[in-house]
Amino acid sequence: MRLAILGAGDVGRSVADLAGEYGHEVVALADSTNAVIDADGIDVEGALQRKRSDEPVGVDDPDDVFDIEYDVLVEATPTTLGDAEPGFSHVERALEADRHVVLANKGPVAERYEEMRALEADSEGSVRFEATVGGAIPALSTVEDCMPENVTAVRGVLNGTANFILTRMAAEGLDYEHVLAEAQDLGVAEADPTFDVDGTDAALKFVILANVLSDGGFALEDASVEGIQNIPGSALNLAAEDGRTIRLIGEATREGVRVGPRLVPENGPLAVTGTRNIIQIETHNAGSLHSSGRGAGGPETATAVLSDVNRLADR
Ligand code: HSE
Repeated sequence: MRLAILGAGDVGRSVADLAGEYGHEVVALADSTNAVIDADGIDVEGALQRKRSDEPVGVDDPDDVFDIEYDVLVEATPTTLGDAEPGFSHVERALEADRHVVLANKGPVAERYEEMRALEADSEGSVRFEATVGGAIPALSTVEDCMPENVTAVRGVLNGTANFILTRMAAEGLDYEHVLAEAQDLGVAEADPTFDVDGTDAALKFVILANVLSDGGFALEDASVEGIQNIPGSALNLAAEDGRTIRLIGEATREGVRVGPRLVPENGPLAVTGTRNIIQIETHNAGSLHSSGRGAGGPETATAVLSDVNRLADR
């Protein structure tokens, strides 16, 4: 597949870097302000330069991305709330041109799911968005494989930054601000890390899961959300005395979405550490399944993008 990548952050750059390994070709890469970076001007730590044979087509005007020959638009610009722009318009333009779209940007899927599906219904192209939930964990494809109508709830930890902060606060007795800076250094925090610690990022992922379970009907404003920013270190110490710890836990059902700090057993499955995520899928007929792994990071999220591209290529 020929990929046009919008968004040259950690995820977009990693998709560009890894695409060749998956047998795909990068034909354009544009940065998040939509200024197109061509093969001679890519300032992406040499990611594409290491693959000179897959040299992307240089284009001068951002709009030219939509005019070049490509099969899949990879939308990896930063997640925005509300109208989910400019990501939503990018999706719209690609679908109207009968191209496929693979999203790492959560905004259009969480905030404008029904509109996005309506555009897809009128297009020869399809939309996939595995990378929007749980990084490297095949969360959405597992729900798809279980068949959404058989899934009663999905819960778990879906923000690596908040989990890293809680893990470090508990283990080292470090203060919150110090640990946040460490998480940012790891490259897993959002451009605005407020979204990570106030629960917004996790809530968007659980809204996406709720939309998949119900084929739409949810947006961020429907979610009940509480973050971790007001948890004192002493609360973690008290929890530990009782064999428990605190995690930012979310849940998506057909009734709604809730995200907030919860006490969980220290040795239980939900007490994943560091930037790991976990999802638990509750099913009618097959009990509970769970899957954990790296929920954030450029290469990790890029593998989810590229697995979606592979699925589109196999259709
Ligand atoms: N900032 C997110 C996290 C990764 O920390 O989990 C992208 O969703």
